[in-house]
Amino acid sequence: MVNYNLIFARAYEKEEASKIPASSRPIFHLTPWIGWMNDPNGFSYYHGQYHMFYQYHPYDTEWDAMHWGHAVSHDLLHWTHLPCVLAPESPYDSFGCFSGSAMELPDGRQLLMYTGVRKDGGYKGKDYQTQCLAVGDGLNYTKYEGNPVLDASDLPADLSPHDFRDPKMWRTKDGSYRCVIGARRMDKRGVLLLYGSEDGFSWHFESILAENDGRFGLMWECPDFFPLDGKDVLFVSPQDMLPEGFEYHNGNGTVCQIGRFDEETKRFLPEHHQAIDYGIDFYAPQTILTPDGRRVMIGWMQNWDTCKMTGYEERPWFGQMTLPRELSIRSGRLYQQPIRELSLYRGQKVEYKNVHVSDRKTLDGIEGRSIEMDIRIRPEDAEKPYLKFIMYFAQDDKYYSMLSFRPHESLLKIDRKFSGSRRAYIHQRRCLVAQKNGEIHLHVILDRFSIEIFINDGEQVMTATILTDADARGISFESDGHAVMDITKYSLFDGQ
Ligand code: FRU
Repeated sequence: MVNYNLIFARAYEKEEASKIPASSRPIFHLTPWIGWMNDPNGFSYYHGQYHMFYQYHPYDTEWDAMHWGHAVSHDLLHWTHLPCVLAPESPYDSFGCFSGSAMELPDGRQLLMYTGVRKDGGYKGKDYQTQCLAVGDGLNYTKYEGNPVLDASDLPADLSPHDFRDPKMWRTKDGSYRCVIGARRMDKRGVLLLYGSEDGFSWHFESILAENDGRFGLMWECPDFFPLDGKDVLFVSPQDMLPEGFEYHNGNGTVCQIGRFDEETKRFLPEHHQAIDYGIDFYAPQTILTPDGRRVMIGWMQNWDTCKMTGYEERPWFGQMTLPRELSIRSGRLYQQPIRELSLYRGQKVEYKNVHVSDRKTLDGIEGRSIEMDIRIRPEDAEKPYLKFIMYFAQDDKYYSMLSFRPHESLLKIDRKFSGSRRAYIHQRRCLVAQKNGEIHLHVILDRFSIEIFINDGEQVMTATILTDADARGISFESDGHAVMDITKYSLFDGQ
């Protein structure tokens, strides 16, 4: 079968993407070659390099008929776009090639598993979601003739064939394969299904791995399941969350559950849960094990509820991936650190100790939109704590964004209301953080169109995109009451 849609998409992206200036993109965060990008897919290390596939609509900066875009990297920070690998054109995926994962087969080929979506009754009809395979060499992939390999007949009773998606595969110690897939009961509550396979091609239902007890939203999307520091960890991105204190916010969210997989019952037994990211733009993360044994995660640096924030119209791309983050478990919690390779790209260092902050001030050499800052903030006098500390960034005469901290509430807030957005989407989010000996410790990574804040050595992370023109490079500090700050700043990727 000739894949006309794939051939056409490859010709289109090659021609049109060459017109996009590098200066319109972030420096070290992955963006689509052209058009729209959502979830990371098939994140893998294969034949000596990292591969990232992604949900992709090359023809527009809005979500539509899903393709799989493709990029490769040696360090997870410099990415090269490759031709897209999957286009919707088979009867079982004519409405889209939705999210999925990748794995190397014993014969050296790479196996992709994705959700094929077809519609019954036209564009507004119902989705039918099935799991499909494609096999390739890191550049070209052929859809498997036996597709779909899992369909409605492989679902336990009471589960909907309309929401059955996002397979994440892995290889077990005995050489067989498993995958976890998102699904939902007829009453809308999400479940995660575990399937097994001897060869990666023929799959069978094993168990309901985990079930949404009504607490974490409705449908559960984009699961990931992996061992970490002696525990088993389950990631899921629920739709339609209700807020819970400062832990979970409304809408699409992300949940990390830490616990244990019971081989007998093939069920996951959770012991702890938390949000994965406490900012505004984070969804559908996927992890890999690097060749040197690190568990690294990349998420979609966006949220479905903020996609229409205007400002991007002039850019021919939409959607970014987060910085790759190294994961660990400390004191029963998920910790995240920026991938250590980032420190290889540090440029000029500027350091200040014991800076007194009250009236608004700038510091020589502290500015920029592609920088890393390590900041420790404490009251000047522990008996008279400051009321509010503010860091303004991505600032020019008209626009700015803010990070503020109120020690008496212990709330850290990101606010991008004045960043240039013309729409009333979510622009603020607050996160309840711990103060250690009266101090908070922030590790801030700015790329041209985003901020990622690693709080207290990665105990929590807040992520947000910003639209502000990259020329707005100003940073300033202010405090209501007297605060003291230590700050170390590095420029990143100088000259790139
Ligand atoms: C999550 C998601 C997935 C689906 C994909 C479609 O963001 O809704 O569940 O596979 O996006 O693009």
